Amino acid sequence: MAEIRVMREDLLPPREPPRRHLISIGDLECQDVERLLGTARNFERSLERELKKLPTLRGKTVVNVFYESSTRTSSSFELAAKRLSADTMSIKSTGSSVDKGESLKDTALTLGAYDPDVIVIRHPQIGAPQLVARYTGAHIVNAGDGKHQHPTQALLDLYTIQEELGRIEGLHVAIVGDVLHSRVARSNIQALSLMGARVTLVGPPPLIPRGIEAMGCEVSYEIDAIKAADVVYVLRMQQERMAEGANYVPSLREYAARWGVTPERLRPGQKVMHPGPMNRGVEIDPVVADAADALIEQQVRSGLVVRMAVLYDLLTHGPAGVQAAALHEIGAA
Ligand code: NCD
Repeated sequence: MAEIRVMREDLLPPREPPRRHLISIGDLECQDVERLLGTARNFERSLERELKKLPTLRGKTVVNVFYESSTRTSSSFELAAKRLSADTMSIKSTGSSVDKGESLKDTALTLGAYDPDVIVIRHPQIGAPQLVARYTGAHIVNAGDGKHQHPTQALLDLYTIQEELGRIEGLHVAIVGDVLHSRVARSNIQALSLMGARVTLVGPPPLIPRGIEAMGCEVSYEIDAIKAADVVYVLRMQQERMAEGANYVPSLREYAARWGVTPERLRPGQKVMHPGPMNRGVEIDPVVADAADALIEQQVRSGLVVRMAVLYDLLTHGPAGVQAAALHEIGAA
């Protein structure tokens, strides 16, 4: 997928460090992912201490703007910023001027007037983060734009896999369910392939986009295909993104019967992941969701340290020396 990256240096005085955004996994190289995961690991160690707050981003401002519902992503960005001592502000579309019909451009200009260092944005429209990048001087983090990208979700998934299985390279991950409407699937296909994992998409033909193999994954229309994977990554049926009147599956009951991830469909020892929110009894059997091999809570925990790493990375001098600096900060705290 072609990425449009619009910078606005022509309208702003040059800033230090150079402005960078996290809009798509496609923006990252292998070494960027390794650096981010390494920084997240350092932060995880620092959180094991009694004093959970680090002074690292004192004086910085992080604004969270969420135009779609969110529990995990918005709470973990907010907590991540707070753990790094940044000032935070959260704006939701309900109860803000968005309710009154304010355009995204005007909201961006308004928020930009406070000169925030980072704007984290979730929006139902693809490309919304690029638009905000155009109208503010802040670093932009995409927290989900339509069915396009959700890069921090993919990073926290990589981190979880790495921590639980000790590696990513060479693993086989089956992503099962509503791939068609899933930004999580798109980001994960890119991220897992980048790090050398094999990805198989599993689901009913109407929910697997045609030609998606071009992203470097395999496709299977048989639920039994999940048995071959090391990790089974379950997606929610994203009904809010389905076109009205469209009939992707006959019914949720039928979907659960044919495609639900049940204990019988898994092999002992297979790890199960889900980005949340889960619909127990639809795409995932409650027994699977609560089993010891489910990494769903670990994913939430990883979300915090990975988002701390992303904020840190954007607000310090980029690739060079980030890991050393993180160690230094933690050691000094
Ligand atoms: C996902 C999202 O919003 O894209 N959830 C999340 O961020 N934890 C997946 C979903 O909504 O199904």
